[in-house]
Amino acid sequence: MNFETIAIRTQTDRTQHREHSTPIFPTSSFVFDDAEQMRALFADEQEGNIYSRFTNPSVREFEEKMALLEGVEDAVATATGMAAVFASFLAFLKSGDHLLASKAVFGSSYTIITQYLPKWGISFDWLPTDTAQWQALVKPNTKMLFLETPSNPGLDVIDLAFTGQFCKCNSLIFNIDNCFATPYLQQPARFGADLISHSATKWIDGQGRVLGGVVAGNKAMITEVKKLCRSTGPSLSPFNAWVLSKSLETLAVRMDRHCESALLLAQFLEQNGQVARVIYPFLPSHPMCAVAKQQMKKGGGIVAFEIKGGLEQGRRFLNSVKLCSLSANLGDTRSIVTHPASTTHAKLTEQARQDVGITNSLVRVSVGLEHIDDIVADIDNALKSSVDEG
Ligand SMILES: Cc1ncc(COP(=O)(O)O)c(C=O)c1O
Repeated sequence: MNFETIAIRTQTDRTQHREHSTPIFPTSSFVFDDAEQMRALFADEQEGNIYSRFTNPSVREFEEKMALLEGVEDAVATATGMAAVFASFLAFLKSGDHLLASKAVFGSSYTIITQYLPKWGISFDWLPTDTAQWQALVKPNTKMLFLETPSNPGLDVIDLAFTGQFCKCNSLIFNIDNCFATPYLQQPARFGADLISHSATKWIDGQGRVLGGVVAGNKAMITEVKKLCRSTGPSLSPFNAWVLSKSLETLAVRMDRHCESALLLAQFLEQNGQVARVIYPFLPSHPMCAVAKQQMKKGGGIVAFEIKGGLEQGRRFLNSVKLCSLSANLGDTRSIVTHPASTTHAKLTEQARQDVGITNSLVRVSVGLEHIDDIVADIDNALKSSVDEG
């Protein structure tokens, strides 16, 4: 079956009420028929629900859908995207291991890699953009390679086919944050990714309502992540899982529109005299456009651009938008503009931001589902104001 059909028709449990839409199971625990069943479930001799920190039918439905949509065997849901990324590290890395990671990763992933993993004796090296230099960074204790493509917020694109081959040759766990693309636009498992994490808070919810995360992969590896989550407890709530399962039903149509509008906005910005640089994976001016087109169905819903002038012009632009929201989120029906240098990536040093292209004048737009003419008009007016007031 096709992506849209799987997203809509995967339903794990139908209750005795024969409901058509998916039900929700807001219960913290489950009852046992007798002492023997209770014992067998705890001993893993039988499959079944015990306690919602371990499993819950609403959560399971979301996990099963995500695994199918990513084209892998299994998935485990978490309370947030960061819980998913963190669990994907902790389940496989131990003291003495070495991690390779692309530097252009979400701010909190950067913090985990630079501040928390080293505390537990896990070292790291950043991968340069030039993949020809990667091999020299592999050490005997290198265990995992982690990356984000397209990256937040600079939309760097990394060649997944190359990375898959590189990880295979060096026996590395290939771990990817697929949040910006969603499984609709990019299925990293096709390129050999072992662990695929998401902030489901973004495009998967798509309506700015709930937090959630997921790690998907093969059965054996996800079993390890599940064991970690069962004991450490970053479980997704049944309500959030239900919202996310329903959201998956419309992911494809939403992403089609987000991508169509984002491309139009990117093309508009490229023609605008107030804009110094536009970054969008499917624009021919993107240095990795050809690779993006090989591994992604469409260019995604995020456009980044630099305003001519710098910080002050950027500040005026942000204060002048009227339709777009000033918010730290992305992947909503509502268009959102953000200034990554002072928000999501504020904890990085100025130098670290420069290294990954997050300049003080960089603005990130999460293109919503409003009419594209209204989005463009709002951004056009704000760009004019950013100059006029100067
Ligand atoms: C690429 C990426 N990964 C992970 C996260 C973290 O997700 P959450 O806020 O759900 O923990 C974000 C949040 O913006 C993100 O953009």
